[in-house]
Amino acid sequence: MPSDTARRPYVAGNWKLWGTRAQAAAYCERLLTLLPEPARRDADVAVCVPFTALETVAGALAGSGVAVAAQNMHQADNGAFTGEVSAPMLLELDVDAVVLGHSERRQLFGETDRALSEKVPAALAAGLQPILCVGETESERDAGDMQRKLRHQVQEGLEDVADDRLADVVIAYEPIWAIGTGKVATPDQAQEAISFVRALVGDRSTAAADAVRVLYGGSVKPDNAAEILAQPDVDGALVGGASLDPESFAAIVGAA
Ligand code: PGA
Repeated sequence: MPSDTARRPYVAGNWKLWGTRAQAAAYCERLLTLLPEPARRDADVAVCVPFTALETVAGALAGSGVAVAAQNMHQADNGAFTGEVSAPMLLELDVDAVVLGHSERRQLFGETDRALSEKVPAALAAGLQPILCVGETESERDAGDMQRKLRHQVQEGLEDVADDRLADVVIAYEPIWAIGTGKVATPDQAQEAISFVRALVGDRSTAAADAVRVLYGGSVKPDNAAEILAQPDVDGALVGGASLDPESFAAIVGAA
């Protein structure tokens, strides 16, 4: 698959379960001192924060060009879904994007590909940018099942997205064995899996495959980011642990 140099790099920091409103405000203030001015930034930047910090972060980052993302969303606008949050609720807080199908949601909280096939188009329809996470476990990789797993997750997650909206989805390839383990994928492994993900989008639309941004996630740190991000199909990074420190997050943005 030829790589399209017009794809703008995208670096998102996933705070996971971190960030009271006080911590979030201090973080944003520090981050903005470390990032270049929006016009001089060579990458799109986003922070993915807990629901309770969204309003604080959206206020602190207003006008900064840094996008604000939630970490999950229900596919329905409202209904009998205790504990859930919907797209209109996020939009009201000036949220720009939403992480969907993170492996922790899948493994610990029963998130299914079926639900994601509704969540991704629901986010797009509402005007939120979905960041759809996919990735294999170590035993799936060892058993030679990586492609089968990715095919299933990508096809089902994007099933009800119209071809002309596919490129509005950001896909994050996050091998589960690399998340929070310090065991980062090699640049070759990241490139191989991400070009495969891109080819899966290409099965639906070649134009979308050229334009869609596919990120790598899993133990990205300032000292390994540049090598991974230099791969032709790797369009950015979804950063967990290292994003909790504004200095290292800004360094990773710099590497992109
Ligand atoms: P990590 O997490 O960078 O701490 O490995 C990545 C993620 O889960 O998005």
